[in-house]
Amino acid sequence: MLDFTIRPARPGDAEFLADMLVAAVNWAPDSDRSREATMADPALAHYVAGWQRPDDFGVVAVDCEGAAVGAAWLRYLTAADPGYGYVADDVPELSIGVVESWRGRSVGRALLRAAWAAARDRGVRAVSLSVERANFAARLYAAEGFRTVESFRDSDTMVAEISP
Ligand SMILES: CC(C)(COP(=O)(O)OP(=O)(O)OC[C@H]1O[C@@H](n2cnc3c(N)ncnc32)[C@H](O)[C@@H]1OP(=O)(O)O)[C@@H](O)C(=O)NCCC(=O)NCCS
Repeated sequence: MLDFTIRPARPGDAEFLADMLVAAVNWAPDSDRSREATMADPALAHYVAGWQRPDDFGVVAVDCEGAAVGAAWLRYLTAADPGYGYVADDVPELSIGVVESWRGRSVGRALLRAAWAAARDRGVRAVSLSVERANFAARLYAAEGFRTVESFRDSDTMVAEISP
């Protein structure tokens, strides 16, 4: 049964996106990086700082009462300030997180698909992301059409092309 819906991300989602960024940073069970430490690290904070800029976009999953339970968002980071999954200035990087109690209920897959569709509707040619190889999310991304374009010691950069 579908007990969540997906809507476009809005400026008022900034705090929730920061929550989901912290969740993504702490994907490993033994990881406990605080929100404060996450937001104090420019290499992480730039995924959400100043949300929502004119070219930022994304999707938010909400429960039947409208409370946010997950989000996938895209931001253009540039060669001058690249993200971990940077491939080109015109390829936005995807971040995703689902509230812990909602994981494993297909929210993540639905968010990925909705974010991809939002990118396609904007005429974006591809989206990228960075994932640590040990994170099961890497298999989800591969199943949803992302392919690895660069590998580092523990992480992969993955790209999903969008046909015109
Ligand atoms: C990664 C994440 C966004 C996926 O969202 P989700 O709602 O839990 O995923 P879904 O329920 O849509 O599941 C997608 C697939 O992953 C599988 N899966 C879900 N949880 C899993 C787990 N803990 N271990 C292994 N596989 C898992 C599901 O079985 C499903 O595959 P299937 O449809 O073939 O069965 C979410 O788990 C999350 O927020 N994790 C912490 C933050 C994070 O890792 N962000 C990404 C950083 S790159």
